[in-house]
Amino acid sequence: MGIILAIETSCDETACALYDRPQQTLVGEWVRSQAQHRAYGGVVPELAARDHLAHLLPAIDELLRAAPAPNATRPAAIAYTAGPGLAAALLLGASLANALAFAWNIPAIAVSHLDGHIASPRLRYPNLPYPHLCLLVSGGHTQLWRVNGVGEHTRLGSTLDDAAGEAFDKVAVLLGLGYPGGARLEQLAKNGNPAAIQFSSPAQGDYDFSFSGLKTAVMRRVTHPAESKLTPADIAAGFQAVVAAGLAQQVQKAMQAHNITHLTAVGGVARNNTIAAALRAAAHAQGGQFYRPHAKHCSDNAAMVALAAAHMQAQPATYAYTINPKS
Ligand code: KG4
Ligand code: ZN
Repeated sequence: MGIILAIETSCDETACALYDRPQQTLVGEWVRSQAQHRAYGGVVPELAARDHLAHLLPAIDELLRAAPAPNATRPAAIAYTAGPGLAAALLLGASLANALAFAWNIPAIAVSHLDGHIASPRLRYPNLPYPHLCLLVSGGHTQLWRVNGVGEHTRLGSTLDDAAGEAFDKVAVLLGLGYPGGARLEQLAKNGNPAAIQFSSPAQGDYDFSFSGLKTAVMRRVTHPAESKLTPADIAAGFQAVVAAGLAQQVQKAMQAHNITHLTAVGGVARNNTIAAALRAAAHAQGGQFYRPHAKHCSDNAAMVALAAAHMQAQPATYAYTINPKS
C-alpha cells in the first residue's frame, strides 16, 4: 500500500487528497474555498486558520471512508504544505499532519507549496517533457522557473512588487467586482475592447515583472472617468491584455535564451484564457507546447501537494524540505 494523504492549508483553500503512489493516480480529493474573506477584501489569516481547523478533519475522514478498499482508513504517509503561506494557516496544517503521522506511526512529509504548483501540470500530463519553463502566477506569487527535472528547478525571475493575481484582485475591486475578482474581471473583459486603452507593460528587466505601477494607472483611469469614454469592460480588457502580453514577452525571452521549447503555467491566474492563449503562442513560436493543469489544479489544491510528496519520496536528495521518517 502506498497511499499518500496530502493536506493544503497555506492560504484560503482547505484541501485534502489521496494519491496512490505505485499506480500514480489520484484516488480522491476535496477542496473548499473559504468565502468569508470577501467581506474584508483580502484573506484574514486568523479566520483562515480557524476555518481550516473546523473543516479539515471531517473532510479527511470522509475522504478516507470514500476511498476504494484497501486504500481506506490508514495511508502510508501524510504530506502537508510547510510553506510559503500564512503562518497561522500553515501551523494548523503542520500540527494536524504531524499529529496524524504520530497516531498512525507513518512518515510526515513537509512539502513546499511552490514545489506543489511546479509539479501540478504532471497531474494532467504525466509525461510532461523536461526541461521546461514554468510560469507560476497566483495570488501570492509571480515567478518564472527553469525546470530541469523532477524537483530540480531554478528561478529565473519574479515580480518586484505585487503578484499577478494580487493585481487582478486589486483592479477587480477598483472596478467594483469584489474580492477575489480575477475570474470576474476575465468575464467583464469579454465585453470590452482591449485596444481602447494602452497600459504600460508589467515586464521588467530580463525576466522580472512589476504590477504596482499598472495598478496605479488603472486606478487613475477608474477615478477620473470624465477624462475618457472608457467603459469598465474596456479597462478590464486593456489591463488583462497588457498583463498577458507582458507575461508572454518575458517567457518567450527566457525560452529563447535557455533554448527551451516547452512551457507550463500554474497557479490561479493560469486559469485565465487570454493569458493562456498568449503563453501558448509563445511556446508555439519556439516550436514547443504549452501545458497547464485542469482549472481545479491551477488553484490551490492538495493533489499537487501529494504529487510533490511522491516526487520527494522518490528523490529526497533533490529537495530542501524534509521527510520526517517516523513521528
Ligand atoms: O493559486 P491560487 O488559487 O492561490 C494562491 O496561491 O494565491 O490563486 C488565486 C488567484 C487570485 O488572485 C485570483 O483572483 C486569481 O488567482 N484568479 C484569476 C482567475 N481565476 C483566479 N486571475 C485571472 N483570471 C482568472 N480567470
Ligand atoms: Zn498557490
